[in-house]
Amino acid sequence: MSDLKIDVLRGHSRRVLGSEIDYVRTVDSTMDRARLLAEQGAPEGLIVLAERQTKGRGRFDRKWVSSMGRDLLFSVVVRPEAEFLAMCNMAATIAVQDVATAVTGKTATIKWPNDVMMFGRKVSGILMESVTSKSGRLDFAVIGVGINVNLRSTAHPEIRNIATSLAEQRGAELDRTEVLDQVLSRLDELYASLLSGVDLSKCWADRIDTIGREVEVNQGGEMVYGKALGVDRDGSLIVETEKGTNIVVAGEVTVRTTKK
Ligand code: BTN
Repeated sequence: MSDLKIDVLRGHSRRVLGSEIDYVRTVDSTMDRARLLAEQGAPEGLIVLAERQTKGRGRFDRKWVSSMGRDLLFSVVVRPEAEFLAMCNMAATIAVQDVATAVTGKTATIKWPNDVMMFGRKVSGILMESVTSKSGRLDFAVIGVGINVNLRSTAHPEIRNIATSLAEQRGAELDRTEVLDQVLSRLDELYASLLSGVDLSKCWADRIDTIGREVEVNQGGEMVYGKALGVDRDGSLIVETEKGTNIVVAGEVTVRTTKK
């Protein structure tokens, strides 16, 4: 296990990402630190990177579990127009999925809307948070990325049955700096293309294994059952139910093995 090589990451120039890298060993959450720095005027592309989080979080305020120095925990500050927000999540999941597939030689897929999965287990989660000014304009967004790189899932009872890591899938530990370098380069490329007007939703939909399957969606306790048909440009899931088409903006999706 070795520390991340920040000089290597800083040495690679990209369009937007990595304009500044803020590297800390321990932080409560890279989301909170990135938000604080963004509020203080940090430039677009700032990356907050940590070896350990004491309050790492995921969607629905769930705890994000990781081991000191074994994984990748980072948040990126972006300042796009609000219309591009949903595509930032698409870009991040596509970037991680591409790299996970490349470094393991096995297929990674996306579970709508923000998980990267390998063989039914989660290898990465993406969290998007945004801050809007009083005038209603988007000030900035923070894209949080957790990637289980060298995590030993058996060391964490709470996730041992649902999580995996790139190392577990590859059968050997990986150099975290190389993985991060690849993710940042791919995300940088995708971010530049979405800002230039490229619609990532088709590319994203092709990678979502939820599509075409019978699903149940928990929307804050309200259940929607049906077949996931696709996603729209805003990243919402289109579900065909017995009562008609349902556009799911947010929720927890489970693929059903038996028809309701
Ligand atoms: C999810 O699976 O719901 C999203 C998980 C996001 C975890 C990452 S780790 C880096 C960043 N800091 C956090 O506290 N959360 C995100």
